[in-house]
Amino acid sequence: MKIATVVGARPNFIKQAMVSRVLREKYKEILIHTGQHYDFELDRIFFDQLEAPLPNYNLRVGSGSHAEQTAEALIRIEKVLIKEKPDWVLLYGDVNSTLAGALAASKLQIPVAHVEAGLRANNKKYPEEINRVFTDYVSSLLFAPTKQAVLNLEIENITTGVYNSGDVMYDAVLKYGKVAEKNSKILEDHDLTPGEFIVATIHRAGTTNNCKKLSSLIEAFKRIGEQIIFPLHPRTEKALRKYNLMVNKKNINFIKPVSYLDMLQLVKTARMIITDSGGLQKEAYFLKTPCITCLEEDVWPETTAAKANRLVGTETEKILEAYSKSYESIKDAEEFGDGQAAQKIVSILEKGN
Ligand code: UD1
Repeated sequence: MKIATVVGARPNFIKQAMVSRVLREKYKEILIHTGQHYDFELDRIFFDQLEAPLPNYNLRVGSGSHAEQTAEALIRIEKVLIKEKPDWVLLYGDVNSTLAGALAASKLQIPVAHVEAGLRANNKKYPEEINRVFTDYVSSLLFAPTKQAVLNLEIENITTGVYNSGDVMYDAVLKYGKVAEKNSKILEDHDLTPGEFIVATIHRAGTTNNCKKLSSLIEAFKRIGEQIIFPLHPRTEKALRKYNLMVNKKNINFIKPVSYLDMLQLVKTARMIITDSGGLQKEAYFLKTPCITCLEEDVWPETTAAKANRLVGTETEKILEAYSKSYESIKDAEEFGDGQAAQKIVSILEKGN
């Protein structure tokens, strides 16, 4: 069995590294990196730290509008698939590269398998929602990370080929949490004391491209007053500079994007997380750190139902209100599987072939 895997952006690399390791014990994997993310801090460092195989193809699509990025990736992926003739195309998550992979493979009638299937924000204003709905629609195997994700697919009458595999990001946290504890120097580098700081990340285009929303978030962070460490996505940094929001930064420490191990260590030792990232909400939950999510829609209801994560959007007062509340202590993340999701995915692929 020959699998072509398509990845393109930071969160894909973590998930793919976990599955790839198991997959390559028995099967041939061709790794196609679209090049959607290309900065060292957003790309190569993840392959190095997760000891992942380097891509066989880097298609170097880079940045652009959604149409430009997706179209370039589509054209270049198609060429590789025609040459390689894989039995399956394996896709991850909901980024533009995932959509391009889904389109290229389905039009060539190569079966698609989707890891992290069935997530829904139920709001098509998010580009990720369009990417995940389309990818699920054309997939023959759908690896849902939770029971809720299976139910979301059922509502859309997608029931064939659906498996609750557990979440490969949970596998990754279980495997690399201890490695991070041992190897990460992030606390020393930034003079941080465990339990005495907050980690913030914001990267959604809908927020970073909106001066009002971004200002409202920064205002909340300043009024919180506690030490906040804020790794910056490149677009967020550009927007903060453009709107002059990096001056008078008070308690906020803006830093470069951090590696996977450094982020795990930060999340594990922080008193709280404030984020608009789907992945970080989950990592906070896995590592038992309370979280405030600056989004309106709930993609991970498992974390909000457990009252470990509060969904508040971007208004200053709402963030401050969530900040002042108490958070229940977090139990083990059993809704996300048992840390063996990658093994399950590979054995289902094997049978599906
Ligand atoms: C993408 C995903 C998002 C995911 C995020 C993780 C889509 C629609 N969105 O968003 O779901 O949470 O990745 O980070 O695919 N840039 C650089 N260097 C890079 C990559 C990007 O400077 O290596 C800058 C460019 O200015 C670019 C902007 O970031 O225009 C946005 O990058 P892009 O790949 O379009 O999407 P993300 O916002 O990172």
